[in-house]
Amino acid sequence: MQKNIGSVMGLYPTPLTVVGTVVDGRVNWLPIAHVGVVEHHTFLISVDKNHELSNKGIQENKTVSVSLVNQNILRAADYCGIVKGAKVDKSDVFAHHFGELKGAPIIDEAPLSMECEVLDMFEIENFNNYIVKPVNTYVQEEFLNERGRVDYEKMSPVLFEFQNANYLSTGSVVGKCWVIGKDYKENK
Ligand SMILES: Cc1cc2nc3c(=O)[nH]c(=O)nc-3n(C[C@H](O)[C@H](O)[C@H](O)COP(=O)(O)O)c2cc1C
Repeated sequence: MQKNIGSVMGLYPTPLTVVGTVVDGRVNWLPIAHVGVVEHHTFLISVDKNHELSNKGIQENKTVSVSLVNQNILRAADYCGIVKGAKVDKSDVFAHHFGELKGAPIIDEAPLSMECEVLDMFEIENFNNYIVKPVNTYVQEEFLNERGRVDYEKMSPVLFEFQNANYLSTGSVVGKCWVIGKDYKENK
């Protein structure tokens, strides 16, 4: 039996990411879990307008990095979601380097990090929603399979859910996409 719990945003868990920016010459790190694929080559990051520093960096440089988080860097990521860059220098929380794009610092220890161009922005209530496109994606080699594809089961990116404010780890593969449903009608 289902129970209606009202107008609750139920689209969790979502991947926890850390958005890297450069603001006035200083690196800043912003954890973001409100992210979503828009089409195959672009995705959305939703940034509260109150994060003045991060918004400034994104809008001035039109570039950002977006990194997935695994348990190795989870505590550091959580810290960045507690303190504000406008008050505390968070630049040294993650060792980092730069790739092709200025304004997109790449976390050395991130399991996967994308340096992205910002294509567009639209405002919804108190949020700036940026549409970004990865230009380069850097993956720790241990998380690439023999076909050179990302092995998310091995990487185990951390997910976030807002209802109870918890972090979750991803589980193991439960089925092959476009295969397990093939004979659904025949063998219900
Ligand atoms: C798990 C987690 C998820 C978060 N997701 C978002 C988000 O999707 N959008 C957002 O604007 N802030 C989000 N935040 C809040 C910011 O990360 C937090 O307020 C941060 O300290 C702001 O940093 P800044 O002021 O240096 O930009 C999240 C925080 C945590 C811990």
